[in-house]
Amino acid sequence: MQKITPSELGVLTKYIKEKSGISLDGSKAYLIESRLSPLLQEYNYKNYSELYFKAKVDPRISTKLVDAITTNETFWFRDNTPFQLLKHKIIPDHIDRVTENSIGSPSLKIWSAACSTGQEVYSIAIILKELLGDFSRWRISLTGTDISDAAIAQSSYGCYNKVELSRGLNEAQLQRYFNMNGTKARIKDEIRYIANFKKLNLLEPFDFMGKYDIILCRNVAIYFDLEDRKKLFDRLAKQLNPSGALIIGSTESLFGVSHLYERKMYMNSVFYQVK
Ligand SMILES: C[S@@+](CC[C@H](N)C(=O)[O-])C[C@H]1O[C@@H](n2cnc3c(N)ncnc32)[C@H](O)[C@@H]1O
Repeated sequence: MQKITPSELGVLTKYIKEKSGISLDGSKAYLIESRLSPLLQEYNYKNYSELYFKAKVDPRISTKLVDAITTNETFWFRDNTPFQLLKHKIIPDHIDRVTENSIGSPSLKIWSAACSTGQEVYSIAIILKELLGDFSRWRISLTGTDISDAAIAQSSYGCYNKVELSRGLNEAQLQRYFNMNGTKARIKDEIRYIANFKKLNLLEPFDFMGKYDIILCRNVAIYFDLEDRKKLFDRLAKQLNPSGALIIGSTESLFGVSHLYERKMYMNSVFYQVK
């Protein structure tokens, strides 16, 4: 694996921060080498400086670089309690509110910001299927966004290998919601069609996304510095409908980050509502 020089490390960490918000300090040389050295080989670049200069002028290389650096770690029903919270509190409360007040089909809008390869979105879709049964009475919008092109491509296609399928799904869910294809499986159309995916960098404006009843923004802001984290959660508050809920990662907190939210707790799980 090619070694990175201190000056290359400096320019690349700055570039990665500008492009994605991911804040890597000088101690992350090994991580950068292990993630970016395959790109040097693929494109025959002689060093990390050449990769940096190519990324600056060629958006395809820039995308590849960001894709290589992002941590796409995710799995089905990750941490479990947030999904129990959605199933037993947040979605039923929303159903009660909108079915009482709505004329025409009730609506439900959910956004998984930084959805990685789609497991978070389809875990929610499975819960919705179990709660609502037939979607036809509803206007459902379930949107997943991520900065990584590769992650969005996999999410949209909804196909997973054996290892991915083994992380968080039980046999009954696999049989019921997936079509097996050799050692892979693809989420069934009846689930997939309610989800949509787009590429979105959370550091860039997202007010065009509109308002949501539920936003999940889990395990992404941990890679940002405090200033970017604060800006992100303050801007997300503007995308929530009144009574809307924000769910963040189980190891994350908005304490000292954003004052716009009230912290609520239900069944050992935390969610936030705009004050
Ligand atoms: C660790 S995964 C979390 C996935 C999922 N939310 C979960 O908790 O299982 C973090 C994701 O954040 C994405 N990401 C990193 N920086 C981002 C940015 N600036 N805008 C949008 N997504 C970003 C990465 O591509 C990656 O897929």
